[in-house]
Amino acid sequence: MRVGIEAIAFHGPEHYVELADLAKARGVDPDKYTKGLGQIRMAVATPMEDTVTMAVNAARKVLSNFDIDPHDIGTLVVGTESGVDHSKPVAVYVHDALGLRANCHTYETKHACFGAMAAVFSANDWISCGRADGAKALIIASDIARYPIGDPGEPTQGAGAVAMVISDRPHLLQFDPEVRGHYTKQVMDFWRPLYSPTAFVDGHYSIGCYLNALEGALVDALDKATFPERYAMERLQACIYHVPFAKMAAKAHHRHFEIDAGEAIDTESERYVEVRKAFSEKTQRWLSLNAVVGNIYTGSLFLSLIDLLRGSTSDDLKQISMFSYGSGCAASMSIAYPTPGFERFRQAIDPEPELNARRKLSISEYENIIWLHDSLATGDTEELRADEWDLHGDFLYLGNHKHIRRYRGLECGICEARRSERLAASEHQH
Ligand code: CAA
Repeated sequence: MRVGIEAIAFHGPEHYVELADLAKARGVDPDKYTKGLGQIRMAVATPMEDTVTMAVNAARKVLSNFDIDPHDIGTLVVGTESGVDHSKPVAVYVHDALGLRANCHTYETKHACFGAMAAVFSANDWISCGRADGAKALIIASDIARYPIGDPGEPTQGAGAVAMVISDRPHLLQFDPEVRGHYTKQVMDFWRPLYSPTAFVDGHYSIGCYLNALEGALVDALDKATFPERYAMERLQACIYHVPFAKMAAKAHHRHFEIDAGEAIDTESERYVEVRKAFSEKTQRWLSLNAVVGNIYTGSLFLSLIDLLRGSTSDDLKQISMFSYGSGCAASMSIAYPTPGFERFRQAIDPEPELNARRKLSISEYENIIWLHDSLATGDTEELRADEWDLHGDFLYLGNHKHIRRYRGLECGICEARRSERLAASEHQH
């Protein structure tokens, strides 16, 4: 059975910060952020945008842009490391907002940035083993990445959600049914205790953990594969990675290349030219969305995938590798095959027009938003107003009343339309 991604869509906040402005405010050379880290902008969520609103808006886009009936969704999983409640999953808010059927298997997954990839694998296996009975899985990666103001991690913040429909009609991409490599190790590279709104990170150590995990997952895939040559870099037209910041993908590709070549390749060595060439052809081209959105934790690998699919054709894309990393840590290396003809969905998946329409924040506006996020997190609030935040989205967080989160825009046009169609069809039958 062919199983994979039938549909994909991104939704992010309506505001951003220019990293050159942030660098100036922090007394840092802007080149450090833009060239050293490879980041240009970072998306900033206002107090009315949270993990739930981004997940719902991305999910509505994926269902409507690809004309998928919400009634066909039999599994809904939200992968996140910045959920809104210690107990209640983001997924159940999404289930309500989309009007999904009551017997939909709904839950949340967490393993830092690996949570959504874990859910994609589970959905893939659920359908492949024949238990889905024609139903589809809706997997959403939704996160807000936050570090303390002035922290070295601050320029690697971001926010956004990627929603994907996994089914036996993989219009966009099919996963390799045979093998994927895994790696797990207890490390304290990045974590966020329950009491903290911002992450703790041992930045340089985390880079080493990421690269070790890449090696572990790739070696595992090669060991398990009946035909390990299927993983050879020369057969891959694109290699995409978890992208906490664009430069990390360059480091990842360098390590990937070394394992493939079977030798260490120093940046001073002659072969390093080959590493740079492979990086620019197979990875760098697909980092432009990540560079203007920032780290979206669970969704960042899939944002790079969107960039790849919107910018390629079936003629030049046959086989790709996907590396997912979650701090703490867990990782996977897998192979996927873009479906011939996927380019006909380019318009449906391209988020660039919306990203270009975002409003730029000054550094003081951004800092005020961060301050408000923290002050709102402690209890009941006044009702938040979309016009005060210059927001145009349908589904927004309104604040808390009696410790219950309230949202605007619960009625979903596409779900209502489908419900009426079904009702009319069943009345017609009778
Ligand atoms: N012009 C050009 N480049 C410059 C420069 C300048 N003026 N100044 C510095 N640079 C370069 C540096 O040489 C360096 O490049 P290399 O890594 O290629 O040597 C780069 O800019 C960054 O400089 P520093 O290492 O000095 O930066 P830093 O110590 O202030 O912070 C960081 C960098 C550790 C990545 C920090 O941003 C951080 O902690 N980020 C969050 C953690 C993270 O993203 N880790 C990634 C792996 S873990 C993961 O992937 C999970 C996840 O999503 C969090």
